Amino acid sequence: MRVNVGMQKGGVGKTTTSINLAGALSDRGHDVLAIDADPQGGLTLKLGYRDRYREAEYATYDVLSEMGQLSLDDLDELVVEGKEFDLVPSHLRNFRLEKHLYSEARGVEALKLALDRHEGGYDYIVIDSPPNLGPLADGALLAAENVLFPSHANTIAQDSLQILFDEIDTLEDKFDDVEISTVGAVLNEVGKDGVSSEMKDWFVETFGEDYVFEIPDWTAVEHSIESRSSVFAYNPDDAGYPWDTDKVEELRDRYTEIAKHTESLS
Ligand SMILES: Nc1ncnc2c1ncn2[C@@H]1O[C@H](COP(=O)(O)OP(=O)(O)OP(=O)(O)O)[C@@H](O)[C@H]1O
Ligand SMILES: [Mg+2]
Repeated sequence: MRVNVGMQKGGVGKTTTSINLAGALSDRGHDVLAIDADPQGGLTLKLGYRDRYREAEYATYDVLSEMGQLSLDDLDELVVEGKEFDLVPSHLRNFRLEKHLYSEARGVEALKLALDRHEGGYDYIVIDSPPNLGPLADGALLAAENVLFPSHANTIAQDSLQILFDEIDTLEDKFDDVEISTVGAVLNEVGKDGVSSEMKDWFVETFGEDYVFEIPDWTAVEHSIESRSSVFAYNPDDAGYPWDTDKVEELRDRYTEIAKHTESLS
């Protein structure tokens, strides 16, 4: 199963959710591949692959554009093996990809085609999207056909979601055989801005009770990412934050819930 973690608004927790969903699925015994579809490389950099991002010989650009040595058959050339899950890292050069894919008739389908040719035996593929609506974000939606929406629980979220729902409708109209399913909404950094209960109610009404998840605004989330892992591989004692221990337990439970829900849809 493939899951796109998508939302065109910046800083709502796409990358954090991607890392922890991939970590949770891996913790539950699955083989997981994460794909960084954001040219800004948040996922790649947060997992510590700065050199890959800046200097690797090949980028997703090369595979999806087929402009050089590589073709859509070669996604496996990009995979790096991680301790929790594998990764297709992003690359500085992928900034050129957005422009390239715009100009290609089937550009938006390139990631889907590349993944169809290289499933690599993974149980789950988690795709982290960029914070804008363009061919890369559309490509991630088309490739996964399942989307998890991270969001802050504020009123702007309603507008952001409406825009994304419209984009999904447009894609489904344009591509006959595509149907994009909702995995759910992750309300991220809950507690930060004194979220109203009306907003949570709106999410539950929109998605259904079993499809809405909450992640509290806790520094333990950031500390785990500082140590380049999900909360599942994060050891607060080793990292010098022993007081994170209880919070980490709770966060693991929350992300495990999302992973179990994802499994139930596959
Ligand atoms: N539950 C949380 N508690 C505390 N901090 C969090 C939480 N979730 C995310 N953050 C922090 O919020 C910031 C934004 O998160 P993240 O990078 O995951 O968002 P994003 O949607 O991927 O952003 P971008 O649009 O820039 O790619 C990061 O610094 C992250 O560590
Ligand atoms: Mg991100």
